[in-house]
Amino acid sequence: MGKTHWRIGVAGLGTVGAGLIKLVTARPRFSPTGDLCTVTGVSARSRSAPRPVDISGLPWFDDPVALAASPDNDIFVELIGGAEGPAKAAVEAALRLGKPVVTANKALIAAHGRDLAILAEAHGAPLLFEAAVMGGTPAVKMLREAMVGDSIHAVAGILNGTCNYILTQMEATGRGFAEVLGEAQAMGYAEADPTTDVGGYDAGHKISILAALAFGGAPTLSAAEIEGVDSIELLDIRLAKDLGYRIKLIASATNVAGAVSVRVHPALIPLDHPLARVDGVLNALFIHGAAVGRIFIQGAGAGAGPTAAAVAADIADVMTAAVRPVFQRAALDLEPIAPVSPDAATGRVYVRLLVKDEPGVIASISETLAEAGVSIDSFLQKSVEGAGGVPIVLTTHLAPEATIAKAVGAMAALPTLIASPRVIRIAHI
Ligand code: HSE
Repeated sequence: MGKTHWRIGVAGLGTVGAGLIKLVTARPRFSPTGDLCTVTGVSARSRSAPRPVDISGLPWFDDPVALAASPDNDIFVELIGGAEGPAKAAVEAALRLGKPVVTANKALIAAHGRDLAILAEAHGAPLLFEAAVMGGTPAVKMLREAMVGDSIHAVAGILNGTCNYILTQMEATGRGFAEVLGEAQAMGYAEADPTTDVGGYDAGHKISILAALAFGGAPTLSAAEIEGVDSIELLDIRLAKDLGYRIKLIASATNVAGAVSVRVHPALIPLDHPLARVDGVLNALFIHGAAVGRIFIQGAGAGAGPTAAAVAADIADVMTAAVRPVFQRAALDLEPIAPVSPDAATGRVYVRLLVKDEPGVIASISETLAEAGVSIDSFLQKSVEGAGGVPIVLTTHLAPEATIAKAVGAMAALPTLIASPRVIRIAHI
């Protein structure tokens, strides 16, 4: 007869930790085995902080490492967050003891995934992190388990709810970036330091994890090109819409001739594309498999209930003894993701220029692009009051990114230009 009662230690009692305690209290037999799960230890920065759950009856640990090592729990759940410090120390302590670890910590897995996987596999301990990407919407298990029979071309989508909320609200209400960010923080979606969200790093952590699972490598943060939404202006949102696009923060990992391009950046999405209709704090992901074609998933990417449900699914995996390598293959065989050479990458871009209103300006812009060998797809000149010049926006056809960069450099040097060109990629998803 196997084990029928599983005891969990929960470190970190923020939104997700409190959500998990609520879930386990309400449904202690959530596992498909019907076995009992109870919380037998908790740890957090402050014992007395106001929380939506009562923890007074639960054994308290000041030190999460001590909780991880305690013989009074069978599974250690890490919901502290952060790539270093107590979260890492506690996860390592549990794994060294061969204790299963469930975590929602994307920064930790993105930065130290391979080393932790080696530790986990050496000690025969599961290390599970479904909640680290897209909160309650299952993306990790989908790539790690359900799609291993396919060969993935690309994964791409919206992985940060805070940025998506900001962009949605800016377009809907005409309000500026800073004002809307304050609102997103108040909703409890933003990270402790919101630059993690708006700088694109949170999405960078998540796409590095998905890239590892999709392409059988180790999470390789250094291979990711990351740009956030902090430089997006209302003017770009409006002009993009006039051209038939919506601006979204897109995270993608794409197989380009055997190497993998991992990127996070704002991108123009055609208004009739499903990603253009993903509003507010929702997350969404396209997975392109060679055999299955395109799969689209959309759902809650954060929040107490959804993320706690993903953590509980991982706990249930431990309870049902579903044993797999931490990533796609044994950790010792995982190679870093090889980034794509800049010469191999191609793309389309939106370029916004602010020019003097005088004869010959448009001719000089199109000559510059023609000389570089970049073809224009659409062109719009639009007077905007108070812009200090005439905004011109153009979109290009597909061209090597290095060629586009050269053309933008040449445009930037035109004497009729008032401000540096603003370039935003156009997504091809
Ligand atoms: N800060 C994240 C977001 C929360 O806005 O999507 C979940 O990772």
